[in-house]
Amino acid sequence: MNILILGGGGREHALAWAVLQNPKCDRLIVAPGNAGIAMIADCADLDILDGDAVVGFAVEESIDFVIIGPEAPLAAGVADALVSAGIPVFGPSAAAARLEASKAFTKEVCDACGAPTAAWARFTDAAEARAYVAAQGAPIVVKADGLAAGKGVVVAETVEEAQAAIDDILGGAFGAAGAEVVIEDFMAGEEASFFVLSDGETVLPIGTAQDHKRIGEGDTGPNTGGMGAYSPAPVMTEAVAEAALTRIVMPTVAEMARRGTPYKGVLYVGLMIADGAPRLVEYNVRFGDPECQVLMMRLGGQALDLMMACAEGRLAEMQVSWAEDHALTVVMAAEGYPGAYEKGSVIAGLEEMAEDSHHMVFHAGTARAGGAWRANGGRVLNVTARGATLQEARDRAYAMVDRIDWPEGVHRRDIGWRAL
Ligand code: GLY
Repeated sequence: MNILILGGGGREHALAWAVLQNPKCDRLIVAPGNAGIAMIADCADLDILDGDAVVGFAVEESIDFVIIGPEAPLAAGVADALVSAGIPVFGPSAAAARLEASKAFTKEVCDACGAPTAAWARFTDAAEARAYVAAQGAPIVVKADGLAAGKGVVVAETVEEAQAAIDDILGGAFGAAGAEVVIEDFMAGEEASFFVLSDGETVLPIGTAQDHKRIGEGDTGPNTGGMGAYSPAPVMTEAVAEAALTRIVMPTVAEMARRGTPYKGVLYVGLMIADGAPRLVEYNVRFGDPECQVLMMRLGGQALDLMMACAEGRLAEMQVSWAEDHALTVVMAAEGYPGAYEKGSVIAGLEEMAEDSHHMVFHAGTARAGGAWRANGGRVLNVTARGATLQEARDRAYAMVDRIDWPEGVHRRDIGWRAL
């Protein structure tokens, strides 16, 4: 089979790595990919937000299956364009991708199907939103309704902070994504991510993970896209997973089908768990980054069979073959991230790194220039390892981190601390 993956970060490197372990894959192209991905697959320069361009490329390259990594092409309808052209695709329609592209839409779906989540309200008028927050008090959560590259959510400790966030969002800081603001009650508990595949009817869990969103050790400092992750998440016991499936995920999938917009793809279910009861924080319509890296490390080549079955409506006949293993990834970022950072610093030690089914360095933002690996983004490397225990996975990952010589890079030394 000829397979095309859309995207160019650590998530897509991990997807490419897993897909290539499946003998069904004859040729793999990643668009746009990155310098690390180019070591294992062909990379193509393609506007992945343009459905017609993606279809044209897929036809030209005789692509049999497309895997869409990030949310933006999904929200832009690239999966719809591929389906219309008869090209099998892993990833939901634009209508179903609203589960990530509109926070208010997700809340409406939860209300319609009775999925437990925080109480909420929506506003386009800043004065009304400010008055609502003043009446509710803090802590309180303020979200831009639309896609804001992970930046449109503020967990406000005070009413003033919440009102400033409202002014920012409705004042245009996030463009069209902030035309509406969603305000939610604060939920206490422990956060975890649950990943399930849905073919529109059947739901198949494929793993759990926890990530570390803050830049600083002890989960302090500004929010990032994620500074590390591990799988499985101990807080996701069988009972919690079962409750999340039956009370949140399955009702949502049924509600989406009832609306005529069945959800087909991976659903990243962000949960808050308190006293063993999960509530929905948010949905994402794609794999998490860096959660995908630990999931792919654990699933390996079967990930392709699962994604194909999902796209073809055959999930009812699939099973996940689980190893009793753990995986952990440490994100190495450019100094300054998530604020301003420099590009171009040299990263040494990658050539000598032995990589195998237990040790992988996934590239999120690197370039090859002057015969050296160089930093080319904020999050740059995802140093990932698998082990029989979380401690073993963690020791292996940090042993790899310590062999990377990158003075301008930063990383956290405490990934996995809550679980250990
Ligand atoms: N790691 C969080 C996300 O992918 O949204």
